Amino acid sequence: MSTCREIATQLMAPGKGILAADESIGTMSTRLEQAGVAATAENRRVYRELLATTPDLADGISGIILCDETIKQHFSDGTPFAEAVRAVGILPGIKVDTGAKPCPGLPGETVTEGLDGLSARLTRYVERGAMFAKWRAVYTITDTTPTAGAIAVNASALARYAAACQEAGLVPIVEPEVVMSGNHSQPRCAEITAAVHAAVRSALDLLNVDPAGMVLKPNMVIEGTGNPDRTAPEDVAAVTGKVLRAWPDDLAGVAFLSGGQPPERATANLAALQYLRTPWPLTFSFGRALVTPALLAWRGDAARYADGQAAVAEQVRANSAAVRLRTELQRT
Ligand code: 13P
Repeated sequence: MSTCREIATQLMAPGKGILAADESIGTMSTRLEQAGVAATAENRRVYRELLATTPDLADGISGIILCDETIKQHFSDGTPFAEAVRAVGILPGIKVDTGAKPCPGLPGETVTEGLDGLSARLTRYVERGAMFAKWRAVYTITDTTPTAGAIAVNASALARYAAACQEAGLVPIVEPEVVMSGNHSQPRCAEITAAVHAAVRSALDLLNVDPAGMVLKPNMVIEGTGNPDRTAPEDVAAVTGKVLRAWPDDLAGVAFLSGGQPPERATANLAALQYLRTPWPLTFSFGRALVTPALLAWRGDAARYADGQAAVAEQVRANSAAVRLRTELQRT
């Protein structure tokens, strides 16, 4: 257990965040195609190598989340991905769920799968060098969802995953994502996020998951994309802080997902969150907000490889500066 605590502390190192580069093959392929890049295994590999070899990435990134395909791939010099990432001072992580699937009995809702054979897979990922893992549950807000059933089954799966990870010596990133799609208001997002978190906390507690050896990856509490309101960063921070307050003081940390917010908005919200007085550090575990500009700058063109890296470096710098605010505020 102490290993998990040590790794979790490293993941939450001051001024650093986590790079989520674990899109499934399907999602990554779609994003590559939208950027005009052929969706091949080799292009997915090259793109992930571009991100991981960005100069000085470890100054602002403590860990990179990989997917099953990537952790089995190698850098162009033949070094296995996880080993190469470690060599630049970044902890390699692995997404271990197998996706949100339609949940029998709950029309229109999903349960995240991947529990079958999980312990054996975790052992193999540890052998490949993984030090932490990720599992994402997805909740959509409508007038009638998420239902109590979706909240309960996803909480139970997240807890079983987290307990299995800690048993295997991997730090679980526990990601209950209330997605932004919908017309809902920020108060409705707060109500749903709080209910989801309460169920997740109680499921984790029942399976004796050590809060000090895990990282929570929540959504920021924000209005739906179809709602014309644009909640100001101070209000996103205040309400998100209220929802998070019930988490135990010894939780290793909170690393927010970006959820499809424009990169500048995600960074502004992250900066505002640093003014909260919380017992745990608050950092980023962004996917799209860190890498979308890089993909658009690169577009599969070897001549623009350095432009892609400059774009990701810029996003990392901005978000790392946002979380460094906390250290600066603590000094004053
Ligand atoms: P986004 O920051 O793009 O929401 O991705 C984070 C993530 O890991 C989703 O599972």
